[in-house]
Amino acid sequence: MQVRLKIRRYDPDRDARAYWQEFDVEVDPMDRILDALNSVKWYQDGSLTYRRSCAHGVCGSDAMVVNGRNRLACKELIRDVGKRLQIEPLRGFNVIKDLVVDMEPFFAKYRAIKPYLINDDPPPEHGERPQSPEERAVYDDTTKCILCGACTGACPPFWTNNQFVGPASIVNAHRFIFDSRDQGTEERLPLLNSREGVWRCRTVFNCVDACPRDIDITKAIGDIKKLILMQ
Ligand code: SF4
Ligand code: FES
Repeated sequence: MQVRLKIRRYDPDRDARAYWQEFDVEVDPMDRILDALNSVKWYQDGSLTYRRSCAHGVCGSDAMVVNGRNRLACKELIRDVGKRLQIEPLRGFNVIKDLVVDMEPFFAKYRAIKPYLINDDPPPEHGERPQSPEERAVYDDTTKCILCGACTGACPPFWTNNQFVGPASIVNAHRFIFDSRDQGTEERLPLLNSREGVWRCRTVFNCVDACPRDIDITKAIGDIKKLILMQ
């Protein structure tokens, strides 16, 4: 089948402003959006720029806006999005080129919530810090994040204030705060309870809709709000 891709293009070395460009591509209905983009790049315009790596929904490189919704290009089948695809970079991020956005501020916020286990106790003699299945289940959902940025790029409070720590960082804070082995909650809560923290969330649910891993992001944010109120 033939599909038409309308792609938002921008090359800072050449273009004064972004513009739309259309490409017709022959694809199989079971191909992914990424296959269609690859077809444009490999056979029509090698200058088309986008991130991708694993092509299997694992690395989180290829989040973009397709027909108005944030999606991973390697996860969505052409048959599920139709014959006309309008493809844009994630909103709320600075565009570097075409579909590639600057993720560095996103990762700076991720680093700021200390996304690692903090525990200063000496490890037990047998070398492991045991945890029951019930304790593990408390934060199971938030371990699934692949840091694609689709949630943050779909978040209206983030569009209006890019200092907001954003849903992805909150999800990753949740993953460690609710880990029974972690002792770093006191170090993480000041940022999460600040003007740029969890209270900026207006429970719009765009993030939940955008997440390719089906993480219940709004619940994770709610869990942290409750924890702060109980302190
Ligand atoms: Fe991507 Fe979901 Fe993680 Fe947000 S929470 S960065 S949408 S995987
Ligand atoms: Fe890795 Fe899509 S290319 S998630």
